[in-house]
Amino acid sequence: MSPPMNPPMNESNESNEPSVAPETDRGEGRDLGSGAMFDGIAARYDMLNRVMSMGLDVRWRRALARAITEVTPTGGEVLDVATGTADVALTIAAQAPSLRIVGVDPSAGMLERGRKKVRGAGLDGRITLEIADGLSLPFADDRFDAACVSFGIRNFKDRALGLAELTRVTRPGGLVAILELAEPRDSGLLGRAARTHVRHVVPRLGAILSGSREYRYLQDSIAAFPPAAEFTAMMREAGLAEVEARPMTFGAVVLFLGRVP
Ligand SMILES: C[S@@+](CC[C@H](N)C(=O)[O-])C[C@H]1O[C@@H](n2cnc3c(N)ncnc32)[C@H](O)[C@@H]1O
Repeated sequence: MSPPMNPPMNESNESNEPSVAPETDRGEGRDLGSGAMFDGIAARYDMLNRVMSMGLDVRWRRALARAITEVTPTGGEVLDVATGTADVALTIAAQAPSLRIVGVDPSAGMLERGRKKVRGAGLDGRITLEIADGLSLPFADDRFDAACVSFGIRNFKDRALGLAELTRVTRPGGLVAILELAEPRDSGLLGRAARTHVRHVVPRLGAILSGSREYRYLQDSIAAFPPAAEFTAMMREAGLAEVEARPMTFGAVVLFLGRVP
């Protein structure tokens, strides 16, 4: 029950590509999730998500969108960082017809897919997609009513900076919401099944379906993400208040929420 994925890169990502985190153990020295890497899988990204998460990714994004739409005032503007193919932006737009969404991502390929979907849904008046780095957002302080990242922050090179940027561009009182994969920790039978799925099925399936052997290291990047208690502490350090972590699906995914004071 895993991913919206972020396979690590094995090729040099010198570049001007933004963000992306150093990999752990087997992936030591790798850069994760750059725009260039996602350009390569953009055409298959949505299909991979549906198959590898057994359709649960849709439900996870809905929960993220609901957390935002429940507290964002009518007519508000939401920022979706690492928007990829715009699934979160589209989900928010569907749930709250008065909201406008700006999605940013460094991958032109992912954004191109996203724009097609936005046009197809007739939502180009409400959803704008642009190239940008989550570590250096091209927006004024306090501009947005809410900001989110879905399955993206795991691979930011500097997560603290990513959190600081999300906090900076969100107005006082606004919500910062982060959805991220985690290692399922539930000790029951289903929890164990989820762990096996994430550790053994997802990397192999991802490698086969994507044609990218880097998917084999997906599990490493999930394991390298800090435990919820540590990440919520980082959110507080970034200046967020009322911080909470809501595990879903046996802890395979966590929805983190915080308010800008
Ligand atoms: C696993 S995808 C998630 C896409 C989408 N949010 C979703 O829920 O499906 C991760 C995305 O993070 C983007 N990304 C990587 N580095 C980034 C950065 N520094 N700033 C913003 N987005 C970044 C990638 O281009 C990719 O589209």
